[in-house]
Amino acid sequence: MRNDNAFPPGPRGLPLVGNIPGFQREPLKYMSDVRAQYGRIVGLSLAGTPVVCGFAPEHVLYCLTEHPRDFISLQSQNHSNLREVLGDGLLTIEGDYHRQQRKLVQPAFHRQRIDQYADVMVKYTQEMLEEWSPKQELELSSAMQQLTLRIIVNTLFSVEEFSKVQELSHAFTAVIGRPPRRMRARFSPFALIDRFSRPQKDYVQGKHVLDTFVYGLIHQRRTEGGDRGDILDMLLTAQEEGHGMNDQQAHDHIMTLVAAGHETAQNTLCWTFYLLAKNPDVRGKLLQELQSVLGDRAPTVADLPKLPYLEWVINESWRVMPPAWRIGRRATRDFDLNGYHLKEGTIVLLCQWVTHNDAEIWGDPQNFRPERWDPAKGEKVPRGAYFPFGLGPRICIGMPFAQMETRLLLGTILQRFFPEPVPSHPIELKPGVTLRPKYGMRVTLREASTNQALAHS
Ligand code: HEM
Repeated sequence: MRNDNAFPPGPRGLPLVGNIPGFQREPLKYMSDVRAQYGRIVGLSLAGTPVVCGFAPEHVLYCLTEHPRDFISLQSQNHSNLREVLGDGLLTIEGDYHRQQRKLVQPAFHRQRIDQYADVMVKYTQEMLEEWSPKQELELSSAMQQLTLRIIVNTLFSVEEFSKVQELSHAFTAVIGRPPRRMRARFSPFALIDRFSRPQKDYVQGKHVLDTFVYGLIHQRRTEGGDRGDILDMLLTAQEEGHGMNDQQAHDHIMTLVAAGHETAQNTLCWTFYLLAKNPDVRGKLLQELQSVLGDRAPTVADLPKLPYLEWVINESWRVMPPAWRIGRRATRDFDLNGYHLKEGTIVLLCQWVTHNDAEIWGDPQNFRPERWDPAKGEKVPRGAYFPFGLGPRICIGMPFAQMETRLLLGTILQRFFPEPVPSHPIELKPGVTLRPKYGMRVTLREASTNQALAHS
């Protein structure tokens, strides 16, 4: 049924700012509340811009797989938060240019290529574990950030030297973790002031360190040639219809891959340990599987197919705590969705946080139940209901990398320790570009023998 003039129902906003205050204050709660109150499609206004929240699987498929060319990513708009930081990498470009660049970058993420990075992932995790001791208390979020950054920096450009990795990590954290004031959210009431204010000093310094390093390395590689087997070499030698990449393109892709490739994995690991602590039965089954397949050794890439429960635990963690919790698109032409005729310029928000936790789809979304991913159990997930990596032509290019990395790191850590959240430490969600623990995650390290006792309990 077509409904030419109407806009989907939703909460009435304030004059001028519309629904901004509620949306910005607590976006996760706001999205869940409007889904509960108004249904599977909800209309909002953010400072005069019409916004439609599409919570149903068919809305996800419509925008991401069936009509992707009728929408552009919000990240690629000129004023987007990410664009100034990352330049024109895959996350922030559109149309034919995106399709052409994606073909150039894609070979670096083929499964066989990615498998070669497994050893480094496990080696760095083991080095981290050497520094850990039983009963020690630490902040897990920063530990996981250091580890995942070290891995991405090595796999991208083979940097081993620890002090160099540290220097780059600090610079990346300054640039990506604390973007300049003038790049606060587009809908922020401060947006206008932000636009004219100067970026912070640590951002400027961090960007200088990174640009100097990445451009220097590109120049060196072009001069020396050779193949070190890392992603930068793949990017510099990639050709599509006789065209390769210039220095700026390679630089922007590298920046994007570092940004997109570590925070998501860092958060996956933190939230998975958190969910395992809350679900001791699941933790016991997982430890049992690791114990029976691996004994006391760390996993290798060849072990992964023999560790299905490990895979289901991570799939379930991405359902409950999706690191990318929403995807935004802007329509480039009028379109029809769910019976509504919507105008060019309308923003569509697809929200993993809500759709992954929708009782109409999942039955018992509140339960952390890895068994729902067991193909033998035959529980069917409708297409479009689960999209932690997006879908369609912009699906996460790093998905195979992330799937391997999170399983290897989780398996390797659990062979030695279980990081148990400190009960007095507050756990709150912070939905930024990714879903993080707002105050980090303080944990106490329980040693493997206790883990194994748990596995047999
Ligand atoms: C748990 C880990 C990860 C999650 C949950 C995740 C999630 C996502 C999502 C949802 C998108 C789609 C955004 C959209 O449609 O607008 C995306 C895109 C992207 N991701 Fe990931 N990602 C992860 C890991 C990685 C890794 C490890 C890398 C690289 C090493 C990476 C690189 C990218 C890039 C370059 C894009 C843009 C793709 C394009 O537009 O063509 N991601 N990611």
